[in-house]
Amino acid sequence: MLAALKSTVIPDGWLPLPVDPNTTNPLTRAYRYRGMVLLRVHMLCGLQHWAQFRGRPSDVIVASFPKSGTTWLQEIVWRVVHRETGAQSGGGRTLEYRFPLLDLPATARIAMTPLHEMESPRLIKTHLMYHLLPESVHTSGAKVLYVSRDPRDVCVSYYHFQRMVDYERYRGTFAEFRDKFVRGEVMNGPYREHVRGYREQADHVLCLTYEELHEDRVTAVRRVAEFLDKPLTQEEAEAIARHTDFENMKKNPGCNFKHWEQTRMVKTTDEGTFMRKGQVGDWRNYFTEEESDAFMKWVNELI
Ligand code: A3P
Repeated sequence: MLAALKSTVIPDGWLPLPVDPNTTNPLTRAYRYRGMVLLRVHMLCGLQHWAQFRGRPSDVIVASFPKSGTTWLQEIVWRVVHRETGAQSGGGRTLEYRFPLLDLPATARIAMTPLHEMESPRLIKTHLMYHLLPESVHTSGAKVLYVSRDPRDVCVSYYHFQRMVDYERYRGTFAEFRDKFVRGEVMNGPYREHVRGYREQADHVLCLTYEELHEDRVTAVRRVAEFLDKPLTQEEAEAIARHTDFENMKKNPGCNFKHWEQTRMVKTTDEGTFMRKGQVGDWRNYFTEEESDAFMKWVNELI
């Protein structure tokens, strides 16, 4: 894999992005592929993985731009599908086993259940833009849910994550990261097109927001249950809402991503952990009023 990552052969359609000196992992190279920013590992392993994907009618797909509340919604969906209302979930197995990623096959660092070996109903996570989803997601009748979040909070959360995560080791300032976000050069970007792509499908994609999950999680849990045709009692919905609050998820080894510290996928120093703050409006600590206005003007031009 290491030799392959160093390889310089670039297939048609993959446009190398300018090397960002703030990305200090020397092996990381970003490309634009069909309008989306992806890494070399997607080019080498992702394309084939998507082509081999065979959707099933019972598949449930949670999609998002990173740092929008993906893990939160995944944990809710898992619990709804399995009617799991206790403190533990999935017998303590991590989300990567219970809810693997569509975007890449398992790697040495991210051990996941291979998709084709999973029993139905399969729960699957993706950060792929809507137009890059494999065709059989659509033809199979799989159910797709999308979570989005105040883009200012996404940007702040992503900045800290990119500093922590080994494939990036970002060392720039927040202002530099925000500029990169706006230029549409951060991994899995561009942000606005990502969100718009799914929201345009809101007649059959269940679109939820991070802020809704904060404000009234019982209602959000019920919406998920209804969309997935998995009826819950009020008590079950309330238990799921309670066990998916920030503090409970932070304690739950099945979904707090603490194991990434052992596999060295992330390095927690002053950046905190994967379950960082879990707040609405942390952006106020990073944006001036003028910066926020300009950022939101840019967002609202497209979404
Ligand atoms: P912060 O960095 O702002 O704390 P994703 O799963 O899409 O990568 O998103 C991660 C973000 O969601 C992090 O945001 C994380 O703390 C937050 N998060 C995860 N579970 C949460 C929960 N139960 N309640 C609130 N925020 C949660």
